[in-house]
Amino acid sequence: MTTARTSEGEELIPVYIMGKCYMVPPSLTIMKAMEWAGYKLIRGVGCRGGFCGACATAYRIQGDPKLYFGLACQTVVQPGMYLAQLPFFPARRASYDIAQLEPTPTTLFSLYPELLRCLGCGTCTKACPQEIDVRAYMAAGMRGDIAKVADLSFDCIMCGLCAARCPAEEAQYNIAILARRLYGRYLAPRSRHLQERLEEIRAGKFDEAIAELKSLSVEELKARYEARDIEPA
Ligand code: SF4
Ligand code: SF4
Ligand code: FES
Repeated sequence: MTTARTSEGEELIPVYIMGKCYMVPPSLTIMKAMEWAGYKLIRGVGCRGGFCGACATAYRIQGDPKLYFGLACQTVVQPGMYLAQLPFFPARRASYDIAQLEPTPTTLFSLYPELLRCLGCGTCTKACPQEIDVRAYMAAGMRGDIAKVADLSFDCIMCGLCAARCPAEEAQYNIAILARRLYGRYLAPRSRHLQERLEEIRAGKFDEAIAELKSLSVEELKARYEARDIEPA
């Protein structure tokens, strides 16, 4: 029996998409393997770089009962992978006007009372493709520690995988983004230098210099850029 190979000599491997077996090159990501197999991706794809969270995928490997999770644009295929994409996860999202809220534990608990139901089981942490300790930020949320939730969830890309298997039916990422919004608007330390510079800009201190820059040609701008002062490393 001959083994199927790519033109570069790679041996093709079997993966299952929507229950159908396809032979694909082993070096592809799940997303590229789906396209190699002929799927045109319209939903469940966005940045292709691991940032937008649109390509959440659950999969099993033949002969292994464990359920795995990953981003389709980042996870490389394995032989015998059974793939199921989750382009959208219908988790509850509270409506609010951030300008009307106070950065207090009561705000978290009143918009997301289910937060207090978290069992601390850690299933969410195991599912997170960003390796965020979701359980830890949920525990911080239960303590009403908005700054800690914001810090621990900083790398969240809103893919929804943590919510997919939560036995307490939490929408962890929606709670986390509320905490980051509250932190960013009300709690993050303000830079005094930034405030001073903004006041200088508003007072017109740089108007003349900006007008001059805007009058220059691209070549003149490039020459100015090359000749700029750079602080020594
Ligand atoms: S999966 Fe749900 S119940 Fe378990 S720790 Fe995470 S948020 Fe809490
Ligand atoms: S915390 Fe949840 S929504 Fe955010 S990246 Fe991790 S699994 Fe995805
Ligand atoms: S396509 Fe954006 S994270 Fe995968």
